[in-house]
Amino acid sequence: MNNTSGFPHLFSPLTIGSMQLKNRAVMPAMGTGYANMDSTVSDRLIQYLARRAQGGTGLIITEVTAVNPRGKGFLNELGIWNDDFIKTLSKIPDAIHWEGGKVAIQLHHAGRETFPQAAGGMPEAPSAIPSVIFNQPCEMMSIERIHEVINDFADAAVRAQTAGFDSIELHGAHGYLLNQFLSPFSNQREDEYGGSEENRFRFVIEVIAATRNAVGPEYPVIIRITADELIKGGYTLESMVRLAPRLEEAGASAIHVSVGVYSSPGGPSIASMDTPAGFNLFRAHAIRDVVNVPVIGVGRIADPEIAEKAISEKDADLISFGRQHLADPDFINKIQLNDLSNIRPCVACNQGCIERMSLEMKSATCSFNPECGQEFRGAPTKVKKPLNVWVVGAGPAGLSAALAASKRGHVVEIFEQEDVPGGQMRSVSKPPNKEVFWSWVEWAVRQLNQSGVLIRHKNKVTQEMFAQGKPDAVIMATGAYPVTAPIPGIDSPHVSDAREVLMGKVEISGPAAILGAGYVGMETADFLLDKGIKTAVLEMQPLPPVGNYTSHGYWLHKRLKKGGGKLILGAKVTRITQDAVQFIKEDEEQTLSFTSVITAMGAQSDTQLSDVLGKLNIRHVIVGDAKSPRRILEAIHEGHRAGSEI
Ligand SMILES: Cc1cc2nc3c(=O)[nH]c(=O)nc-3n(C[C@H](O)[C@H](O)[C@H](O)COP(=O)(O)OP(=O)(O)OC[C@H]3O[C@@H](n4cnc5c(N)ncnc54)[C@H](O)[C@@H]3O)c2cc1C
Ligand SMILES: Cc1cc2nc3c(=O)[nH]c(=O)nc-3n(C[C@H](O)[C@H](O)[C@H](O)COP(=O)(O)O)c2cc1C
Ligand code: SF4
Repeated sequence: MNNTSGFPHLFSPLTIGSMQLKNRAVMPAMGTGYANMDSTVSDRLIQYLARRAQGGTGLIITEVTAVNPRGKGFLNELGIWNDDFIKTLSKIPDAIHWEGGKVAIQLHHAGRETFPQAAGGMPEAPSAIPSVIFNQPCEMMSIERIHEVINDFADAAVRAQTAGFDSIELHGAHGYLLNQFLSPFSNQREDEYGGSEENRFRFVIEVIAATRNAVGPEYPVIIRITADELIKGGYTLESMVRLAPRLEEAGASAIHVSVGVYSSPGGPSIASMDTPAGFNLFRAHAIRDVVNVPVIGVGRIADPEIAEKAISEKDADLISFGRQHLADPDFINKIQLNDLSNIRPCVACNQGCIERMSLEMKSATCSFNPECGQEFRGAPTKVKKPLNVWVVGAGPAGLSAALAASKRGHVVEIFEQEDVPGGQMRSVSKPPNKEVFWSWVEWAVRQLNQSGVLIRHKNKVTQEMFAQGKPDAVIMATGAYPVTAPIPGIDSPHVSDAREVLMGKVEISGPAAILGAGYVGMETADFLLDKGIKTAVLEMQPLPPVGNYTSHGYWLHKRLKKGGGKLILGAKVTRITQDAVQFIKEDEEQTLSFTSVITAMGAQSDTQLSDVLGKLNIRHVIVGDAKSPRRILEAIHEGHRAGSEI
C-alpha cells in the first residue's frame, strides 16, 4: 500500500531488537474469551487476529496468556505453561505473518485478580490480601514460589520464541501479579520482595532479567506497566518514573504505558467516553523522558490526529489503539489511505467488549461491529437471485440489516417514518459525552449511500403498502416506544418523556423530577444538570439500576452528585400534581416540589405491522427493539444476522 497518508509519524517504520515494524500502530492485548476451554488456541481466535493484521496494524499483541495454570484470570484464558502449547500457539504467528504483520504474545499471571475455578485453587499473591473486586482469599507466595514463577515467565518466553512470535510482552499492568508486587497497596511483605520501594521493584526486575537471559540479547521483551494505580494507598507516576530506567537496565526493549488497576474508580484502564481521548499520554511522555527504549502510549486513542501528534511531540514512539481494532479492523489501512470518513468509530461504550466479558461472562465482541469475533464463519456469499427486501425503520437495527442485505446483493429499500435516520440514536447521542454515538449513524448512512441503498424518509409503512408493494422479504426494525405507569397525573401537560426532552421537543426550565433511574433516566439527569437545571431521579428499586462499577455508570453517579442532583431510591411515585410529586419511601408518604416531570420507565415493542405480515404471507424477520426492547448491541447484531441470512 502506498503511503499517501497525512500521518507520516504514524506510518514510519521502527525496529525493536530483532523485530522490524512497518508502522507505529499497535493492537494491545485484549482478552476475547475465544480460546478453547483447555486454554489452547481456537480457529475463532486465529481468524479474529489475522483479520486485525490484514487491516494494516504494525504490531499485534495477543491477549493474556497464562505462564502457569494458577495464574489464569478466567476459565478459558490461553496457556503457555508447557511445551505442548507450542504447536497450536504457532498458528498465531503463522497467520499474522501471512498478513504481513508482526506479533507479540502477552505473558500473564493474574495473582489475586482471579477466582478459584480459574486458578484451579486458591489464588496466589505477594500478600494474603484479597482482591477488592473478587474478594477471594489468596495465599501469600513463599520465596521459593516467587522463584518458580520467575522461571515460569522465562520458560514461557522461550516457548513463545520457539512458536514463532516476534516478541513477548510481560503483563506488568492493571493490578495483576507483577503490578501487585510493585504496589504498596497489595504488597505488604516484609522480606526482600516487599517493604521498601526497592524491594517492591525486585520481582518485576528479576522477571525481566530472567526472561532476557532466556531469550538472548536481540529478542524484543516488552513490559506493560500501569503508570499510576489511581487508588488510595497505591503507587503513583513518580514511582514508575524511578522504575522505568531499571526496567530498561534489566533488559526491557520497550515499555507500554497503561494506567489503573481493577479497583481504580471510573475504570481508567479501559476508559469510557466520559474520559477525554489521549488522557494517559502525559504519563507515557514522563516515562519516555527517562528511558532510551521505545515507549508505547495507550488510552482512548482512536483518532489518528491524536496518535500522529503524540508521536511527533515525543509523548510516545508507538500508539496502541485497543477497542478501535474491535470496531473496525481496517482502520489503519483507511488512515493510511486518508479514507477517514469510512472508519467505523469505537464510541468507548464498553458494552460489547469488556463489560460483556466481565459482567455477562460472554466472549467479547463490539456493539457496533457485528462481525467482530465471527471472522471464522467467513464472509456471506452473494445471492444468485436478488430479492426485493424492505427494511422498515432506520434505527440501528434497520441500518445494520440493510447494510448486510445489500452486501449479499439484494435490492434493498429502507422506510423510515421520520425525516432523519437513526431511530433512538437521535436521543442516545444527546447526553454529555454521547455525541460520538451519532458518528455510527453517519458511518452507516455513508456506507448505504455508497452501496446505492435508498432511505425513504417520511415514509410510515402501513398494511396497505405491504399489500400493494408485495416485497419478497421484510425486515421489521420498527423499534420500541416509551411506556409509563398508571400514576394519577401522568397525563398532565408538564409530564413528558425522556426522549422528547433529549430531542429538545419540550423545554424544561424549572426543577425536574425524572421517574426511573435506568440509563435513560440517569443520562437525562446528566443532560439537564449539564444545562444547570435542578434534577432529582426517583427510582422504585432499593438499589440503583445503573451501578457505579462500570466506567460510564461511575461517571454518571459522580456528575449527578457534583451537579447537585438527587437520586432517591426505593421511592414509589403515587401521584403527580401541578407542582409536586408524591411518593412512598420506607412506608412514609413524601412530597417534593417540581415544575416538570420526565418519565424514563422503559419501552415496549411496536408489533402491529409484524402481525399483518404473517397474514399476508410475506417472509419477514423482526429485529432489535421491535423484537424486545434491549440495546444497540442486540439491534445491530440481530439486524446484521437477518440481512446476512435472508
Ligand atoms: C436516551 C437513550 C439512551 C440510550 N442509550 C443506550 C446506550 O448507551 N447503549 C445501548 O446499547 N442502548 C441505548 N439505548 C437503547 C437503544 O437506543 C435501542 O436499543 C436501539 O436504538 C434500538 O434500535 P432499533 O433499531 O431496534 O429501534 P429504534 O432505534 O427505535 O429505531 C426504530 C425506527 O423505526 C422507525 N419506525 C417505526 N415504525 C415505523 C413504520 N411503520 N414505518 C417506518 N418507520 C418506522 C422509527 O421512527 C425509528 O426510526 C438508549 C435509548 C435511549 C432512549
Ligand atoms: C475486551 C478487552 C480485553 C482486554 N484485555 C486485556 C488484556 O488481556 N491484557 C491487557 O494488558 N489489557 C487488556 N485490555 C486493555 C487494552 O489492552 C487497552 O489497554 C485498553 O482497552 C485501553 O485502550 P483503548 O482505549 O485504545 O481501548 C483489554 C481491553 C478490552 C476492551
Ligand atoms: S463495544 Fe463499544 S467500547 Fe467496545 S469496541 Fe465496540 S464501540 Fe468500542
